[in-house]
Amino acid sequence: MQETWIVTGGAGFIGSNFVRLALAENWCAKVVVFDALTYAGNLDNLQPYLESDSRLVFVRGDVANAGDVEKVFADHKPHRVFHFAAESHVDRSIQNSAPFVITNVLGTQLLLSAARKHETKRFLLVSTDEVYGALPLNSADKFHEKRPYCPSSPYAASKASADFLALAAFHTYGQDVVITNCSNNYGPYQFPEKLIPLMIMNALKGEQLPVYGDGLYVRDWIHVEDQCRAVRLCGLEGKSGETYCIGSDNEQPNIAVVKMILKLTGRDETLIRYVKDRPGHDRRYAIDSAKVREQLGWKPRIDWGNGLAATVRWYVDNATWLDRIRTGEFQKYYAELYGDRQ
Ligand SMILES: NC(=O)c1ccc[n+]([C@@H]2O[C@H](COP(=O)([O-])OP(=O)(O)OC[C@H]3O[C@@H](n4cnc5c(N)ncnc54)[C@H](O)[C@@H]3O)[C@@H](O)[C@H]2O)c1
Repeated sequence: MQETWIVTGGAGFIGSNFVRLALAENWCAKVVVFDALTYAGNLDNLQPYLESDSRLVFVRGDVANAGDVEKVFADHKPHRVFHFAAESHVDRSIQNSAPFVITNVLGTQLLLSAARKHETKRFLLVSTDEVYGALPLNSADKFHEKRPYCPSSPYAASKASADFLALAAFHTYGQDVVITNCSNNYGPYQFPEKLIPLMIMNALKGEQLPVYGDGLYVRDWIHVEDQCRAVRLCGLEGKSGETYCIGSDNEQPNIAVVKMILKLTGRDETLIRYVKDRPGHDRRYAIDSAKVREQLGWKPRIDWGNGLAATVRWYVDNATWLDRIRTGEFQKYYAELYGDRQ
């Protein structure tokens, strides 16, 4: 496809998986990664393409800076924008929510305005199932596109605000926007503050695995590659002004995930340490993804058992990537979050 795509947040976990797939499978002619390289952004995630593939352009910039945003649109005139960039970690939003409002809300508004000004064909906003709030344990209830928003954390509230801005742009200006609301992702290149890479990292080192509360928080895990394929499909064939819930019917309590990781890394359960709960912790997320499956023909390809085993192997094989990430900033954050939660 002879198109230029801007991928914001393309140096982060999901964005970089999206970019690598886009280049490997020729999804478009040129990919412009627009990323501020916060603690979560990492140019290693874009290798080897960054050094060797002229279809990939990296632009360092802040989605919440109007000048940076205008320049990347003026320079590259994108046909489509895939907006992944965000402050993405709930625990950090509880510590300090200001960067979440700036990046997730203001950043989305500036990008939407620039896309209108430069007549970008489509704006795909990558959002989360957390905008819907929480579901009770042991119920058949699931999130779906018609469910009212009810975000609990500052992170979820900022993502919900971004979604509303995108929908308002559709209704007010007729702007072509599509939103995807996805469940928890796992896979390679995920920053080790999130549950699965954190547990893998600690298990590999033989360190304790901190599990919040009773460990019975349920998430609907999807492999990042399945999410990226859904985002692409919605970005190409989704109906303008619509939202699509993306999930793979894989509900798992955190403690079950942790035990699987211990098994896959050859460690025993004595490493599990229950710690004080996250404030306002959502009990359960589950997605009904019938709409994207029936209307666009998407379905997940990667089975949970195989996907998790491959993810553990990836972290074993990429110890250098992990070592380079474990910077002073991460150590400080980890100590602040788990140090007093005995
Ligand atoms: N990780 C999940 O399980 C999950 C699930 C559903 C939805 N999402 C959504 O998917 C998107 C990507 O999530 P992720 O897990 O890859 O996040 P991530 O934290 O790994 O990466 C975020 C990226 O955005 C960049 N960024 C942050 N602030 C920026 C700014 N002001 N300007 C430009 N770039 C900035 C970072 O440098 C980083 O590269 C987010 O919008 C998130 O809300 C994530």
